[in-house]
Amino acid sequence: MQIKKVGVLGCGLMGAGIAQVCAQAGFTTVVREVEQTFLDKGMQRIQGLLAKDVSKGKLSADQQEATLSRLRGTISFEDLADCDLIIEAIVENIEAKREVFTALDALCPAHTIFVSNTSSLTIVEMAAVTKRADRFAGLHFFNPVPVMKLVEIVSAITTSPETVQTLREFSQALGKTSIEARDTTGFIVNRLLVPYLLDAVRVLESGVATKEDIDEGMKLGCGHPMGPLALLDFVGVDTTYYIANIMFEEFREPRFAPPSLLRRMMLAGHLGRKSGQGFYTYGG
Ligand code: 3HC
Repeated sequence: MQIKKVGVLGCGLMGAGIAQVCAQAGFTTVVREVEQTFLDKGMQRIQGLLAKDVSKGKLSADQQEATLSRLRGTISFEDLADCDLIIEAIVENIEAKREVFTALDALCPAHTIFVSNTSSLTIVEMAAVTKRADRFAGLHFFNPVPVMKLVEIVSAITTSPETVQTLREFSQALGKTSIEARDTTGFIVNRLLVPYLLDAVRVLESGVATKEDIDEGMKLGCGHPMGPLALLDFVGVDTTYYIANIMFEEFREPRFAPPSLLRRMMLAGHLGRKSGQGFYTYGG
């Protein structure tokens, strides 16, 4: 199946990044937010990143204009009606996602493929509220979406091979490399990444080393672009805590259990970059 028009649900950090890469790759893209203020913030973010690419000479002014002409923001749910693919990137809450997919199922034509950008929820639990469980999958992007080259294609037990093939071709058209995983909590990357981040907190908690040395160790010793505590701030203390809890519930293994320091930081509102304070302090 050929994808021409893409709908993105949610224009937060991930939704805005996904909408940007879709429009840049030549897809007619409509991104929907629930409130105009959230939409304005997301659209400004996209415009800012495109302008930065133009100033760096990575994008021509014509390409910038063409990208923006393919991208439309809306707060109207009905504007998603004629999309060939809908990418959901709303809040990580199963009830909210099930509600939105129920409404989309009634709105969109039969051929429309639905995917969720969830990082930890179960795909089939969302697919089951629709009459198109065969045209339903996970498509997991990484932050920052315009930079990170990977997407995970996640097959639920109901997902058809044709849907997976369409998503492979779509990912390639976005300039991303796709890897494929079964519908298990955390898929591939978070299954490995989350215990690593939690272990870094445990190393800090137990007084083995300073946060700076833990991060420097993994950056210079293993060639990672960021140390684990800086990455945890980047992903979000609350997001990591939330994902860890879901993984712990699923696997019941101590390595997925969030350490108490993480919980206390969350209770203190030290959420990482987004709040200005996490393991490190951020200005601006
Ligand atoms: N949005 C768009 N572009 C961005 C960006 C952002 N938020 N942050 C940085 N960039 C771009 C910069 O403009 C720059 O582009 P250029 O090469 O054309 O100049 C390039 O990325 C490199 O940026 P910087 O030079 O400012 O800084 P770094 O070299 O340190 O790179 C980074 C920043 C790309 C964020 C890098 O540190 C990195 O790759 N970090 C690891 C990120 C990571 O692991 N992400 C996955 C998180 S897990 C996840 O998302 C899954 C979820 O389910 C939890």
